[in-house]
Formats: sequence, C-alpha cells, structure tokens
Amino acid sequence: MKGLFITFEGNDGSGKSSVIEAVKNELEKMNFKVVQTREPGGSKIAEKIRTVILDKDNIGMDAKTEALLYAASRREHLQKTILPAINEGNVVLCDRFIDSSLAYQGYARGIGIDEVYQMNLFATEGYLPDLTLLVCVRPEIGLNRIKNNHRGELDRLELEKISFHQKVYEGYLEVQKKFSDRIVIIDGEKSKEEVKDAALKVVLDYLRGHYEN
Ligand code: TYD
Repeated sequence: MKGLFITFEGNDGSGKSSVIEAVKNELEKMNFKVVQTREPGGSKIAEKIRTVILDKDNIGMDAKTEALLYAASRREHLQKTILPAINEGNVVLCDRFIDSSLAYQGYARGIGIDEVYQMNLFATEGYLPDLTLLVCVRPEIGLNRIKNNHRGELDRLELEKISFHQKVYEGYLEVQKKFSDRIVIIDGEKSKEEVKDAALKVVLDYLRGHYEN
C-alpha cells in the first residue's frame, strides 16, 4: 500500500520539532512505518545546497536565487528520499516543505506567493503534501523561545529583524487561507501537552479517513 506525505510548518520558534517527534512516536507505537526528514536538506545533494543557503557569509543573497536554491534542494529531496519512501508504504513526516518557500520567499521576501508557487510546481511536478500541520506562534514569542533555548549560534535566517519574522507569520496565514483544504493550523501558544494532543488528533483523524476509504 502506498504511504502518505505529511508536512509540518511554522515560523521560527513555533515548536514544530517537538510536534513532529510526538507524531512520529505515536505512529510508530501504532506500527506505521515512518520516515522523518527535513528541509532544506534531506538527501545528499540537498544537504549541500542547505549549507549554501544557511551560510552566514551569504547574507546578501538575492531573494530569487534563494527561492531557486530551496526549490532545487526540494526537488532532490523529493526524488531521492520522499517519493521512494512513500512508494514503499511509509508515512513520511517532513519538517518544512513548499509552504515554507511560499511564506518566507513568496510573502516575506516579497517575490509573491503565486510566483513562488508556480516555480515550485515546476520543481515538484505538481506533487503536494497530503496533509500539512501549521504550528503558529506570534513572532515575538517564537523569537524569545529561540533566544532562551539558544542551542548554539543563530543561523542567517534567525538573525533577521523582527519585522521579517512578522511577515513570515502573516505569510503563513495567507498561505493557509489559500490551501485551507490541505493545511490545518495548530495553536503553538498553548501548553506543550495541548499542542501535542491537538497535532496528534489532526494526524490520526486524517489517517483514519485515508486508510478506511
Ligand atoms: P532550520 O534551522 O533548518 O530550521 P527550523 O527553523 O525549521 O528549525 O532553518 C531553516 C530556515 O530556512 C528557516 O528559517 C526557514 C527557512 N526556509 C525558507 O526560507 N524557505 C524554505 O523553503 C525552507 C524549506 C526553509
């Protein structure tokens, strides 16, 4: 049986990593075969592109160059990691995918959500996630969390000004409105337990519907 493709999105500091971990553990307990991966990266060449994108020396990178690099990395990731895993019947859980590009490059960097969407459709040949969980926190809360759990140096994108993070947040809400049939919002400002429970409910309801039909 073919697997499923579930993506997790959220602005920086939204707590989506803990959400993915919780979903993975639960699905494994239920004996689903699960593959966890993330963007940018997730395959050999995609990881190399990741180092270029996140390198602090590249602070002046042109917005469209950045969008193209993400799309190139995404295509590699899809071809080499995601599609083979889905074809083998795995549930693929991916930390960020196309909607990150729509919110960050399309909206926050001002290229345009539709433009970046079209460019990504070329890269993925129209392939989209089955389900997307968008973990949302207001940017000031997200950034405070990052500062407090400071796991080493901040990367180039985390160093951006608060106004950029505000735009990313607004961008995600726009993207969700556009693809409301696929993207479900999870309120990331609730307690860790509540966020986890809400995310699990969304995923399990979806799986039930999917595998019963
Ligand atoms: P990373 O440290 O991997 O991510 P996270 O914030 O998920 O822990 O950094 C990824 C950064 O790249 C993050 O700030 C979002 C950004 N990004 C884009 O701007 N566009 C994209 O298409 C993707 C996949 C990520």
